[in-house]
Amino acid sequence: MSKDIYLTGITTTGTPHIGNYVGAIRPGISASKDLSTQHFYFLADYHSLAKNEDPDKIGQSTLEIAASWLALGLDTEHAYFYRQSDIAEIPELTWVLHGMTAKGLMNRAHSYKASVQSNVESGNNDPDKGITMALYSYPILMAADILMFKSTKVPVGQDQKQHVEMARDIAQRFNHHYGETFVLPEAVIGEDTAVLKGLDGRKMSKSYNNTIPLFAEEKRLRKLIMKIKTNSLEPGEPKDTADSTLFDIYRAFATPQETADIAQRFADGIAWGEMKQLLFEYINEHIKPARDEYDRLIADPAIVEAELRKGATRAREISVPYLTQIRDAIGIRKLG
Ligand code: TRP
Repeated sequence: MSKDIYLTGITTTGTPHIGNYVGAIRPGISASKDLSTQHFYFLADYHSLAKNEDPDKIGQSTLEIAASWLALGLDTEHAYFYRQSDIAEIPELTWVLHGMTAKGLMNRAHSYKASVQSNVESGNNDPDKGITMALYSYPILMAADILMFKSTKVPVGQDQKQHVEMARDIAQRFNHHYGETFVLPEAVIGEDTAVLKGLDGRKMSKSYNNTIPLFAEEKRLRKLIMKIKTNSLEPGEPKDTADSTLFDIYRAFATPQETADIAQRFADGIAWGEMKQLLFEYINEHIKPARDEYDRLIADPAIVEAELRKGATRAREISVPYLTQIRDAIGIRKLG
């Protein structure tokens, strides 16, 4: 059996937070240490067009996300680490795939349907109001990302599963029509998708504005942790670890033994203030070496740029010849 190829994209909106770290960055970096598989991690900057982000914010987010992965030790000699927009073959393939994508398939995309739904609910007479083609075709661009590198496994959150299935459908239809060309990908949904809760107890997400940035400087990190919502139990009263954001975050960083010790302290009635201080100290210690490296990279973006360029050069050794083959399959060929 040929080796599995893992590929996943990170949309360049926002600053990486500890939820991203626990849910995607840490497992990604650790998986990429397995030399018997191949790994592609990339910054999906063209995808951010669908969200109409401010141009300066996209650049800043690209830098912050790339610097985070590098600071945390991603091995860019083994893993492919690149920026989507540096691989010109991806948007080109996107168009090729448009020819094999049923419009009806796109009509069924959850994210598109949610936008239509919210128009309808707010009483708009145009259900497509504010919906761009970039939003509508988003799954086709994502299919190109996936198919371009013959990925077999695509680690994503539950919300992206449908997109991976669409990539598979599109690939199948293409293969049926033009002959065996694409590898059919499969979504991998992390079984312990530790979805961290944010400051207010809802899922940590930049759309809720309740995140703790992964590399917030020490003072800010402490301040944010002090803001985490708790219940009103007094010091000395036994506390439940279930449904405690403080406990969940601690557990996401600590060893099983340390976690068990903290569970005992909950039962013994640790004061919330003490638990917050303890959590702050733990995360701060854990993150410090990487944060120093992150700060160095943010101060010198040319290093990050060079890494991404290197990744693009490596990735294009695959995408350039493969796209020629794909074009040949659809009849876009040299004349003699
Ligand atoms: N759409 C994904 C998200 O929002 C990001 C993404 C873009 C992606 N292209 C991809 C994920 C290809 C996996 C594979 O999270």
